[in-house]
Amino acid sequence: MAKAYKIAVIPGDGTGPEVIGEAVKVLRAVAARNGFNLDLHNYDFGGERWKRTGETLPDSAVEELRGYDAILLGAIGHPDVAPGILEKGILLKLRFELDQYINLRPVKLYPGAYTPIKDKGPEEIDFVVVRENTEGLYCGAGGFLRKGTPDEVAVQEMIATRKGVERCVRYAFEYARKRNKEKIVTMVGKTNVLTYAQDLWWRCFQEVAKEYPDIKPDYAHVDATCMWMVKNPEWFDVLVTDNMFGDIITDLGAMIQGGMGIAAGGNINPEGVSMFEPIGGSAPKYTGKNVINPLAAICAGGMMLETLGEEKAARQLENAVIKAVSEKLKSLAAGKMGYSTTEVGDMVAEFAATM
Ligand code: IPM
Ligand code: MN
Repeated sequence: MAKAYKIAVIPGDGTGPEVIGEAVKVLRAVAARNGFNLDLHNYDFGGERWKRTGETLPDSAVEELRGYDAILLGAIGHPDVAPGILEKGILLKLRFELDQYINLRPVKLYPGAYTPIKDKGPEEIDFVVVRENTEGLYCGAGGFLRKGTPDEVAVQEMIATRKGVERCVRYAFEYARKRNKEKIVTMVGKTNVLTYAQDLWWRCFQEVAKEYPDIKPDYAHVDATCMWMVKNPEWFDVLVTDNMFGDIITDLGAMIQGGMGIAAGGNINPEGVSMFEPIGGSAPKYTGKNVINPLAAICAGGMMLETLGEEKAARQLENAVIKAVSEKLKSLAAGKMGYSTTEVGDMVAEFAATM
């Protein structure tokens, strides 16, 4: 019997369902070609469900999701829901509960894609950000004192644990070895100001680096990294960084690789269940118009295949995306592709089935 992967699909809010529909189309095409099956189960977590039931992500669902091989997620965020409710209640809860401690975000400019950086091309823009995904400012530690009074105090704590940082840094070194490109791991930090959390990071980084004599350890402050990413993106191979820094620099990364329409990421628990998503949001203004670019979701599907061990299928999917980008699409921006969302999905599915 053909191998079957059990995949939980959370289309989510806004354009999430549209892009996930196209990702599933392409995944089915490569699965058929490579002789494995995808056993997909849909979950309706998101803003609409919250509005109907007041429920974000029930604990029982988290338990159920542990039984899957992977999760594919569209987007979380709804214009009618106050910021934080869905993000914390669904997306962050999944990352934390499933201990997806790595957020892996490749920044790769495909031939033909537009980058706003003059004189830089696919040769120069090709690196990977390993973002710590369960700690830092994202823990939700802190609180208010005297809230709503003129003497109000708000504290938001940045948490770094030795274990959390070490497993993330080690993942980055292992990844650089496997990636086998420049073999440089750059810690992106702020050791000059955050003298506790970042001190732990720095000591840990130096210790782990000693175990990888074949990899060059490097360091850049996060603000300087924003500068280098624009000025000399070719300096980077694998970047490893704290949760909040990683969040910020990967939006910049997405822009230099052609925009949110192409940027994908994986929330990875190397020992457990991982979740893959386009890194852009739910794009309410494009919802339901069949204009959003599904390539980021399709690429997230490719990352999922790679993690599942279907490397050949992942490569076919990526080649199909490259062909669409370099030969067909006019732009990667929503509404400017020269094709609709579903047409792009059909095109990539067709390429993926044949090339
Ligand atoms: C991302 C998003 C999330 C984050 C939000 C929606 C909570 O911006 O995946 O980058 O900050 O991690
Ligand atoms: Mn973000």
